[in-house]
Amino acid sequence: MKLLVIHGPNLNLLGNRQTDVYGTTSLAEVDALLRAAGSAAGADIECYQSNHEGALIDAVQAARGRFDGILINAGAYSHTSIALRDAIAVGPPTVEVHLSNIHAREQFRHHSYLSAVCVGVVVGFGPESYRLGLEGLIRHLSAERD
Ligand code: DQA
Repeated sequence: MKLLVIHGPNLNLLGNRQTDVYGTTSLAEVDALLRAAGSAAGADIECYQSNHEGALIDAVQAARGRFDGILINAGAYSHTSIALRDAIAVGPPTVEVHLSNIHAREQFRHHSYLSAVCVGVVVGFGPESYRLGLEGLIRHLSAERD
């Protein structure tokens, strides 16, 4: 099983930015955690980060036929991007994750355009959101194959 992990804008600063909200784990450490969890579950993980909306859309489009599923934290584009939602809607099955509990934060973070076209959503567990999201995605794809 081949899975693509996509990180959106500002997540390259993870570990240095707003550590009270996002913690001190770096993005490289999150990716290492996911690769390890993936290989334990027999999944091959590729990780990608971009600060650019169009590049994220390109990555989702390019995943069609190449990846079985996507795990995405689209950062602030989750709250603004209908274009990214449209790409996900016709892409491989996708799970949305957020480090913080977006529902406990500012009103403008409560709504994600992506959630309705995703298989599931995990929020609020810090880096564990990614691991739980990955587990959910793998289970979903395995069930689809049965
Ligand atoms: C985030 C939540 C978003 O609202 C914010 O813009 C981010 C990070 C999270 O992982 O908690 O960049 O996606």
